[in-house]
Amino acid sequence: MEDLKGKVALVTGSGRGLGKGIALVLAEKGADIFINDLKLDDAVKEVVETIRVLGRKCIFIKADVTSEEEVKSMFESIYSEYGRLDILVNNAGTDKSQDIFATSLSDWEFIMKTNITSCFLCSKYAMEIMKKKGGSIVNVSSVVGHQGALKGHVHYSASKSGIFGVTKALARTGATFGIRVNAIAPGVIETELSRTTHGEEGMKKLGASIPLGLGNTRDVGLSVAFLCGEGGRYITGITLDINGGLYFR
Ligand SMILES: NC(=O)c1ccc[n+]([C@@H]2O[C@H](COP(=O)([O-])OP(=O)(O)OC[C@H]3O[C@@H](n4cnc5c(N)ncnc54)[C@H](O)[C@@H]3O)[C@@H](O)[C@H]2O)c1
Repeated sequence: MEDLKGKVALVTGSGRGLGKGIALVLAEKGADIFINDLKLDDAVKEVVETIRVLGRKCIFIKADVTSEEEVKSMFESIYSEYGRLDILVNNAGTDKSQDIFATSLSDWEFIMKTNITSCFLCSKYAMEIMKKKGGSIVNVSSVVGHQGALKGHVHYSASKSGIFGVTKALARTGATFGIRVNAIAPGVIETELSRTTHGEEGMKKLGASIPLGLGNTRDVGLSVAFLCGEGGRYITGITLDINGGLYFR
């Protein structure tokens, strides 16, 4: 059991989906949580409330992680509240179902900004804080980063492969300051994004073809908690595949 008591964690894009699942597990393991998303709707309020019921402090920060100004101000708020940050999970991400012929330059730029520029920006400002006491960063990539998406999604594939490079480079820089940086490559996890991308029928078919079936957000949260906890203390620069046997590297 990972013990994250006394740790402070930020999970980007954690109002729903995978980010929510990760935030809930980190809270369950003892960490205080900053939830970030584009807006504070009822679903997000419920996440914050659930974490508070677990006995953890939980603060919502509205910020678009593609905006340097908003990212900077988010980390300033975290620093003024706690004077530290132990865990950053770069989870916010999105996709558009389209092949290369239907992809415009602005589609490409939007996906790259959301999925990878955000990872650069948040890591930069988080590492400024973590430099003092160390910390752990987990970047959310995807099976698609290794294999390419089935039906094009060239922007999404590029952004998720790019995360491997960012992770390795930051792992080398971070080591000097006691900051570990790893990536995860989830397979098919049941969320709004995966249901939109694959459709209900597609999800069923995929589930049947995966040795351990479809994954859920808690499966991913538990792996992230491992990487951020004592069990991960000598692990940096890797990508952990969380895919139920969907493929083996
Ligand atoms: N679901 C899967 O099967 C799967 C598999 C592999 C990787 N992933 C990755 O996991 C991450 C989360 O995916 P998900 O399935 O939970 O998606 P989701 O669409 O269900 O949730 C994504 C969350 O991120 C937020 N977000 C989007 N853009 C943002 C921005 N600019 N600033 C702040 N928040 C923003 C959204 O509002 C939303 O709450 C993504 O990086 C995705 O690529 C998902």
